[in-house]
Amino acid sequence: MTLEIYHQLIQTLNDHARRYYTLDAPVIADHDYDQLYRQLVEFEEENPLLLAPDSPTQRVGDKPLDMFESFTHTTPLVSLGNVFNEEELKAFFDRVVKAAGTPSIVFTVEPKIDGLAVALHYKKGIFSVGATRGDGKAGENVTLNLKTIRSLPLTLPSPISLEVRGEVFLRKSVFNAHLKDHFVNPRNAAAGSLRQLDPAIAASRQLDILIYQGISSTAETHTETMSQLATLGFPVVPDRVTAHNFSELCEACSAILEKKQTYDWDIDGAVIKVNAYALQRTLGFTSKMPRWAVAYKFAAEQAMTTLENIVIQVGRTGVLTPVAILAPVKVGGVTVSRATLHNLDDIERKGIKIGDTVSIHRAGEVIPEVVACVETSPQSRPFAMPTHCPTCATPVVKNESDVAYRCPNVLCPDQLRGRLLHFVSRDAMDIEGFGEAVIDQLVQSGAVRDIPDLYTLTLEHLADLDRLAKKSASNLMDALEKSKNPTLDRFIFSLGISFIGKQTALALAEQFQTLDAFLSASKETFIGIENIGDKTSEILSESLIDPEFCARVQALLRHGVHPKIHSSSAKGPWSGHTFLITGTLSRPRHEIEAQIKKNGGKMLSSVSQNLSYLIVGENPGSKYEKAIKLGISILSESELDLL
Ligand code: IVH
Repeated sequence: MTLEIYHQLIQTLNDHARRYYTLDAPVIADHDYDQLYRQLVEFEEENPLLLAPDSPTQRVGDKPLDMFESFTHTTPLVSLGNVFNEEELKAFFDRVVKAAGTPSIVFTVEPKIDGLAVALHYKKGIFSVGATRGDGKAGENVTLNLKTIRSLPLTLPSPISLEVRGEVFLRKSVFNAHLKDHFVNPRNAAAGSLRQLDPAIAASRQLDILIYQGISSTAETHTETMSQLATLGFPVVPDRVTAHNFSELCEACSAILEKKQTYDWDIDGAVIKVNAYALQRTLGFTSKMPRWAVAYKFAAEQAMTTLENIVIQVGRTGVLTPVAILAPVKVGGVTVSRATLHNLDDIERKGIKIGDTVSIHRAGEVIPEVVACVETSPQSRPFAMPTHCPTCATPVVKNESDVAYRCPNVLCPDQLRGRLLHFVSRDAMDIEGFGEAVIDQLVQSGAVRDIPDLYTLTLEHLADLDRLAKKSASNLMDALEKSKNPTLDRFIFSLGISFIGKQTALALAEQFQTLDAFLSASKETFIGIENIGDKTSEILSESLIDPEFCARVQALLRHGVHPKIHSSSAKGPWSGHTFLITGTLSRPRHEIEAQIKKNGGKMLSSVSQNLSYLIVGENPGSKYEKAIKLGISILSESELDLL
């Protein structure tokens, strides 16, 4: 290959990547792309000195960094003021009209992406540096991690220098498939991934970006800048509309709220901006934020209240999680009086003290979260992590490398409660009827001291529980009996091994097929299995020889719990076909997934050309639109049964 052809190949590959990741409109098959990519890699391996900075191979740097360098922003990355209802939006509108001296103002309204702000610099058409917001004036240089974002152009079609700003985020589909067992929500996962010192790990997280601002653009309006940036190949925030009066503003915000569920990323509001830069300049900034833009936060999910106390909850792995006790407040139609504060680092970073007024966020099924301190008072007092477990008084331990404080006592009643609740949960052994109230009583009475004891319970034990009718007690006995032959992946997941989520448990079951093979596997055999790196394989192999763990598994076997031999690689009529589900179906998803696997089909986690069928239920998500665009076959639930 000549140097010229090498550069042409880079351009071709970058163009295909843009069509695939930014435009959602690929024109070649994945397999053909892979072949071209391989040719590129071969040439670069043979000619390392000719390596071009815009080569797609350069998306993943090879060495982890020791730390991020600081990067000073050209102009501060300011935040936006928030409004939570139409009244507050009207006040913003009136302020702008008054300052402009005319009511005929064009605004833009676009979704507010719930991720992390970054500034990106291009020099002579090449992506040179990108940084996080930091304190607004200077952030961290996370260029290597940003390069791993497939939709971000490394080169522009012309050699111009510019700065754009946008939001880095994780798609919900990626989060649900790979990360939901490790992070509380996609935003936290995106934050953790963007600040990874090892770009290879950042790359594996599949971050994404949408651009919302062009700095020092030659255009006259925000709209114009955004279409120029789109032409240059940037993925810009979609669904921007213009509004010419207050009622159009309100309509545009409602339309975005209505579309919220169809996006494959979280949005937490709408952003309203004055469209004309001339008027933006007239309006200017307060000390903290622009006067020409505002965030309309979807009020239903955001509320303010008093943080009355912080208590500690001990989870099933012994992690001490600070929990906020709040003056009850309605968020998203539900009254919230508890919310998570994640960990001490998070509390300190957000500067939250007991007694503060805080903002609470609740999104879908995710546990409510304390987002920030809104107002503090002289009476507020800082929170300190306890030195002893509040439940069993064992001294708390903390590893240098970990943000979590832990209770090391595996017999701690709170850990037991957590382990039991996890074991019986829907995605684990799915033992119906064992809710918190039942488990709490079983733990408190001492009837259950570890998971296997569930299978020694008698009808008398259960009938003794408060508020449990005879019939319900016998239902519980039936549910226990019925749970004795779980699939291997559910069984592995239910044991609650650190870092082994649903997806990883399934990958382990696929790999080892039988419980015996899994239990006797060595550390080396774990590495390389989906989602398992050095650290997880280490923890996994340590768990498998831990005496407590072994005794627990052996006792379960003795009590007649025998996981089935894993059979997903079953050959069947659907072998070679891949499936994905979106929307609500008449049966639980795991049942449909089991049916597909039984017939030899394979589940995928996102829509791509590799997908054979998308199964669509009620209220389908963005996967539906994407599948239609890509021409994927769509099946209803009943059509699946006819396959
Ligand atoms: S415009 C000077 N547009 O929300 C105005 N911001 O809470 C710059 N965000 O700092 C912001 N989506 O990180 C703008 N469509 C959008 C956005 C957006 C998400 C973020 C951004 C901003 C924060 C304010």
